[in-house]
This record gives sequence, C-alpha cells and structure tokens, in this order.
Amino acid sequence: MKITLSVIKADIGSIGGHIAPSTELLHTVGRFIHAHGEPLLLDNYVGFTGDDIAILMTHRRGEGDTAIHKLAWDAFVTGTAAAKQQGLYGAGQDLLRESFSGNVRGMGPAVAEMQFDERASEPFLFFAADKTDPGAFNLPLYLAFADPMNTPGLLLAPKMARGFRFVIMDVMHTDADHVIELNAPEELYDIAALLRDPERYVVESVWSRATGEQAVAVATSRLHNIAGKYTGKDDPVMLVRTQMNFPATGEVLAPWAIGHFVGGGMRGSHQVPIMPVPLGTGTSWFDGPPLVSCAGFSMHEGRLTEPVDAFAHPFWDSVRERVAGKAIEMRRQGFVGAAMLPMAELEYTGITEKLEALERRFAVRAPARAVA
Ligand code: F6R
Ligand code: MG
Ligand code: MG
Repeated sequence: MKITLSVIKADIGSIGGHIAPSTELLHTVGRFIHAHGEPLLLDNYVGFTGDDIAILMTHRRGEGDTAIHKLAWDAFVTGTAAAKQQGLYGAGQDLLRESFSGNVRGMGPAVAEMQFDERASEPFLFFAADKTDPGAFNLPLYLAFADPMNTPGLLLAPKMARGFRFVIMDVMHTDADHVIELNAPEELYDIAALLRDPERYVVESVWSRATGEQAVAVATSRLHNIAGKYTGKDDPVMLVRTQMNFPATGEVLAPWAIGHFVGGGMRGSHQVPIMPVPLGTGTSWFDGPPLVSCAGFSMHEGRLTEPVDAFAHPFWDSVRERVAGKAIEMRRQGFVGAAMLPMAELEYTGITEKLEALERRFAVRAPARAVA
C-alpha cells in the first residue's frame, strides 16, 4: 500500500526570544490537526525542536498534495493567532505569504515528503534541526549512505553493497530547482566535492540503487533565498527510512556523535557545532547551539507508534558535553575568521552597510618614490 509521509514545520513564535514555543501554542497546532485531520490523515505527530513546531502526517494522497499542505498552513495560521494572543516573539515569523496558494513550498515552512510502498514493518527516523540550514544534514548523510567506515552495512549487507544514489540541489538558484544525481560509490569524489560546501549544495534525497526505493527526503528550502532578506535560519527537517536494504538506525544516528560545525547559531551567522538533543528541547546558549532531534517510529498501514527519542539515550550525554566544549572554544575567537560565516551567508545586513561606508573613507596612498 502506498503511504506518504509529510513533515511540515515552521517557527510561528516562541517564549523569551527565539527559544521554544509555548505549551499553549503547541497544543493549539495539535488540536487543529486533530480537529481537521479527518478524513485526510491516517495519523499525525506534532512536536517541537528549538523554536520550531513540526507536523508529521501519514496519508495516501502523495507528495505536494494541496489539501495536506493547506491543513498544515491553516494549523500554523491558527497557531500564529494564539502566539499573538500570548505575545510570543516572532509570531508567524515563517509564514512569508499572506494567503495559501496551493503548496507551502516557497511560502516559508520547511517540507520533507516521501511516498513509498509500506514495508511489513516500516521503521523510519524524523530529524528536526534548529538554528541551522539544510546543509547540516550533508555530512551525516554522506557518512551513513556512502562511507563503510561509518556504515558496515555497505560491506556486509548484499543489497546495500550496490550503493546509493544522491540527489543534490544547488540552493543558490531561486528561478527553478537545479539538481544533480550522483551514484555512490563510483562518483564518491564528485559527491564529496559538492557536499563540502553545505551552504550551497544540499542533499535533497537518497535512493537505494538495488531496489530503486527512496531512503531519505530533506527539506532543502533556504529562507533567505525565498524572502530575499533575513527571516531566521531554515531549520530543516528530514525523513530517513532505515533497516533491511537501507542503513540500520544506528548507522544513521552514528555520524551525529561528531558534533560537526554548521552554519547557524546566533543571528544565523556563525559556525557552531550541532548538538543532538532530546525531543522538545529548546534553544539556549548563544541562540543555539544548533540542535538536532530524532524521533524514531514504526508504522503499520499509516498508523504510527509512539516516538522513540533517539538522542535521549545516555550515550549522547558525553557527546553533548564534547559539543558544548567545541562550541565554547570556537566562540572564544568571537567575530574573527572561521568563527563567523562568510559575508554572503551573514543573515543581517548591518555589516555590509558598515563596510560600504568605510570603503568610501579609504584613501589611496601615492606609491613611494623609488630611491635613485
Ligand atoms: C533566530 C536566531 C536568533 C536571532 C537573534 C536576534 O532564529 O537565530 O539568533 O537572530 O535572537 O533576533 P531579532 O533580530 O529578532 O532580535
Ligand atoms: Mg526563530
Ligand atoms: Mg528555529
């Protein structure tokens, strides 16, 4: 039976700055989906990571379905009214358009969707990241789906040995989607050459080459490309099907122990290591650090189990401590060099204006005369 997983998430307001949504806001969105989900949805889960609320939905209507997208949009609009009532900060921040027009793509919320034939048991992972952009998923996906140093299944499981196909998007274009398909392992170096620049090249999906099945869907939208100005980081979501012909759940989780540096953190403008956190964790230090949560689910005919909180396990406590240490070390060099993102990625325009003003004050010194 073909099932579609759709996750649509947005920042529509939070308490105490860009920290976390209120319980009232979360419940308003959840109640809306509960009240209006019939007969569209088979099941749903509503949760938050940092200041973002995500609505995970199962249904039979395929990807990009207008009714499903409108349901999520309307839930966020209703939530925004509740956020305003409570005086939450950034109420409705990610709803960039006045009215819904068929599909939430390009309207602010992040979307990841996958349609597939449900397996007898369908384990999958739902990742949500806050205070960062979709390129944050590049390294973990490369390691999980292309590197046998991380994923022994690439050596041990016959169907995985055929490798995986990466669909990678150049997110600098807003006219249309610019995508390339590359096969691991043959084109590993080409994949690596693109993924080394996570602000520009972003994994959009990953597919099994043995069976043609989709394993991964990532929300690739870049908010500042859509809005043309700073509106917060994209805070991407991702769905990953695991086990059997796909990497095992543990192989997909393992790369997150690195705590790699990603673009984000304070004012969306720094290089900060990403911290794996339990579900429903807010933001804190330096408007970060960038966070990633992971809810594991099983599913039968679209009915979800309760989520298992993958990063709540005690193993991740020492990872979090190490990531906090890395973050503090990088912050010690403040605004200088690698600590801050390159000019093109800075989310605020203040520095560009300052540099333009200073440029006018530069004097060109006459060349020194050569001594005879
Ligand atoms: C929000 C974010 C924050 C804000 C910062 C300033 O996603 O990353 O770091 O950029 O808190 O927010 P404003 O400009 O709203 O005062
Ligand atoms: Mg925010
Ligand atoms: Mg956010």
